[in-house]
Amino acid sequence: MKLIFATNNQHKVDEIRAVLKGPLELITLKEAGINIDIPEPYNTLEENARTKSSTIFELTGSHCFSEDTGLEVEALGGEPGVKSARYAGEDASFEANIDKLLEKLKGASNRRARFRTVISLLINGQETLFEGICEGHITEDRRGNNGFGYDPVFVPDGSALSFAEMDMEGKNRFSHRKKATQKLVAFLNSL
Ligand code: IMP
Repeated sequence: MKLIFATNNQHKVDEIRAVLKGPLELITLKEAGINIDIPEPYNTLEENARTKSSTIFELTGSHCFSEDTGLEVEALGGEPGVKSARYAGEDASFEANIDKLLEKLKGASNRRARFRTVISLLINGQETLFEGICEGHITEDRRGNNGFGYDPVFVPDGSALSFAEMDMEGKNRFSHRKKATQKLVAFLNSL
C-alpha cells in the first residue's frame, strides 16, 4: 500500500520510514510532486493533523496521513503544546523556542514534560487517529546536536541522554512518533 505523508519535515520522514516496513510505501509530498505548506491554525493537535491529511486527500484522492506533535511541560500548564513550533513567535527558530522554554523554566524544580504526537490517517477518505506519548524531563542546558526541534533539551524517562545525543535508532526506542506510527501499522495490518 502507498501512503502519502503530509509533511515537509525530513526528520519526521526519516523517523517514520525507520518504523514502516514491509508492504507499506511512504511517499513524501516532494515525491508526490506537491509543493504546499499547510497551515496549522487550530488549538488542538488533532485538528491540525486532520487539516493536513484532509488537504492532501482532497488534492490527490490517495491514502495519506499527517502528524502533529507538541511538547507539553507540566510546570507550564501544558505549554507550549500545540503552539510548540511558534512558541517564541510566528516563524520562530528551534533555537529561539528552546531559549524561551529554558528561560521560563529557570530555577524550576518540576521539569516534567512529554511529547505527544497525533497521527490522522485517511484510508479512502475515512479518518482514524493514533496517539503516541513519550514522558521525560527538560534539561537545564542544551545537550547534543542530533535531531531537531526541542531534542537538545528533552531527556526521555529511562535514558541518561537527551534525544539530540542519540542517533535516530536510539530516539526511536523511546519516541512519541514511533509509538503513534506503530499503532498506525497495527491498524493497517488489521484491515
Ligand atoms: P509540528 O508537529 O511540526 O507542528 O511540531 C511542533 C514543534 O514541536 C516544532 O517546533 C518541532 O520542532 C517540535 N517537535 C516536533 N516533534 C519533535 C521531536 O520529535 N523532537 C523535538 N521537537 C519536536
